[in-house]
This record gives sequence, C-alpha cells and structure tokens, in this order.
Amino acid sequence: MRTQPMLSQFMNSITIDNCHIHFNDNAYSILNSYLDAHDISSLFILADTNTHLHCLPKFIAQIETDIPIEIIEIETGEETKSIETCISVWNVLSELGADRKSLVINLGGGVVTDLGGFVACTYKRGIRYINVPTTLLAMVDASVGGKTGIDLGTLKNQIGIIRSGEMVLVDTSFLGTLPKNQMRSGLAEMLKHGLINDLDHWQQLSSLDQMASEDLDRLIRDSILIKSNIVAQDPFEAKERKYLNFGHTLGHATESFFLGKMDRNTLLHGEAIAIGLVMECFISHKLKCFPKGDCDAVKTTMQNHFGKVEISEEDRATIMELLKYDKKNTHGQVNFVLLESIGKPVVDCVVDNALILEAFAYYES
Ligand code: GLY
Repeated sequence: MRTQPMLSQFMNSITIDNCHIHFNDNAYSILNSYLDAHDISSLFILADTNTHLHCLPKFIAQIETDIPIEIIEIETGEETKSIETCISVWNVLSELGADRKSLVINLGGGVVTDLGGFVACTYKRGIRYINVPTTLLAMVDASVGGKTGIDLGTLKNQIGIIRSGEMVLVDTSFLGTLPKNQMRSGLAEMLKHGLINDLDHWQQLSSLDQMASEDLDRLIRDSILIKSNIVAQDPFEAKERKYLNFGHTLGHATESFFLGKMDRNTLLHGEAIAIGLVMECFISHKLKCFPKGDCDAVKTTMQNHFGKVEISEEDRATIMELLKYDKKNTHGQVNFVLLESIGKPVVDCVVDNALILEAFAYYES
C-alpha cells in the first residue's frame, strides 16, 4: 500500500444524526465558522509528540480565531492511554482555567482521540470536543462514533464512555507522514468494513495496490460512511454496532497478549485485527456456512498485506484465556460476531475452544 501524500480533493461531508464529518480543505472552513458561531472561552489542542511536530503547524495555520489557544502534549504510544495521563491532562486543563465553555481539539491517532475524548467528557462533567484524526486507523475508526476511553493495564479500552464530539475533521494530507505499518493498521479496519457491510468495498480494498492515489481518499470516505451508518442505527452497541467488532474478539485478545509481552514486538491494532479477521472468517465458515472460497480469499489478502505472525501453542492458550476480558462478554460467555456471507454479520455467537484452536491452525497454515 502506498504512503505518499495524496492529492487534496473535495469530498462531501457526512452528516448522520449527531455525527458530522468534514474532509480536507472544507473541514477547515467549517471549523472556522464553528468557532465563530459558538460561545467558546478557550481552545485546548491535545497532541502527542509526533503530531505536535508533524501535524500541529499545518493545523494551527488553518485556524482563524481570536479565541485563546493552549497546546497540551502527551507522549506517543498505547502505554500513554492510561488514567495517569488523564490525571495530568485534567490538571493542566484545571491550571490553565478551562471552563465549561472550553473546547478540546484532539489532534492525533486513536490514543489521542480516545483519551482526549474521555478527558473532555469527564472534565467538569463534560465539555465539548472535536476529533482531528491524523492516522488512517483513527480516520476510519477511532475518531468516529463517540467511543472514548483508556486502557486498564494491558486490557484495551476497559474504561470509557460513549459521547460524540462536535465534529470530526479528516485531513488526508496528514497520512503523507505516516509509516507504512501505520497505514496498513488502518487498512485492516477498512477491510473489515467491507466484510461486514459491502462486498464492493471489500473487493476494491483487496486490490488496493493497483489503485491510483485519489482512490484512497474516496475509500476512506466510504469506510467512514459505513461506520457512521452502523453507529447511527445503534449508538450504544445493543446490536448493529456489534458488527464492527467482527475480527476483534480474537484480534483484541491477540493484541493484549502482545502488549503484555515485553520480550517481543507489540502488534499494531490493525495487525492484530488482521489475524482476528482471518480466524473469525474460518469460524464463520465452520458455524455459519461462510463460503470457504471467501474465507481463503480473506486469508490471502490479509497475508499479502500483513504477513503471518508465529503464535506458538502455549501463546494460543494464553490468548484464549484473555478472551474472558472481552467487552462483549455477557453472563460469563464470550460472544463472537460471525459472517454468513460478506455483508451479512450475525451477533452473539458462542464458539467452543476446540474450534478456536482449529482457527489458529488455519491462520498458521
Ligand atoms: N471500533 C468499534 C466501534 O466504534 O464501535
């Protein structure tokens, strides 16, 4: 997948219920009009070390306002997504006099948008926030849909609340500075959007290598549209929003496992989800008649983009243990999302351990 900067092109905004997503140059005009039209006492831009350096200068240059602006910087990386970081950001907000008319702008990847959203939603019982995602993963997933939160140790997103920000501003030119592994981490979520909702989207993404650069902007918008439509149907994840967890039951457990292992490289979120998608397609084939040809095509696509990670038998057992922390569990039971076919997910499926072990073997084969 290419990582060069993209042509900035006009893309129509997405507005569904209280979810407003604006793209590229148009996003900055909308932000400036918003700042002009609303009663905002102060602006706090939350960035991490990377986005402070690479994205903030461009972002600040586009803002036209007299509202006082403060920058808050946090460290990069998943380890930052903790209650300790929240406490320091709440302290800075408090010391700098943030009040209930303040606005937080989260400029960064999923760690910044999740944590910044959570900080804003809890500071003085909730102040407004805007997400400006700078990674592909945050653009197509984390920044959209109002999920905010932090990790509890190595357990991802165990603490948080769902409350949408004022808007999401997607400037795809930020992707020009993103390393290849971060790009493919976002691609995994886009592929998932195709698998759960749209055969055509899946097929276009599977052959992304042959695509001209401007196609990626359109595919990003298509993915965001799929996600926004699902969130609008079910903002608090009673049913349809669970579809977005396809690939995430085993994917999250695998991600948590690698996060907890100091002696090996951690997997990026999308890299772990790619493993989960292959395994959960296999389980879908066994339990829901998901066609074997599609299952093999998913495995080939994922292995082309992500390669294969060696997971030993001992590690498989530990990953299966971690399933007990999955957020979708109810009554002590692990609930999988599976597919009957591409675009046809089913929720709350119970899977026995023997089949999960078979799925590991399929992934490794
Ligand atoms: N990342 C899945 C969701 O937003 O529901």
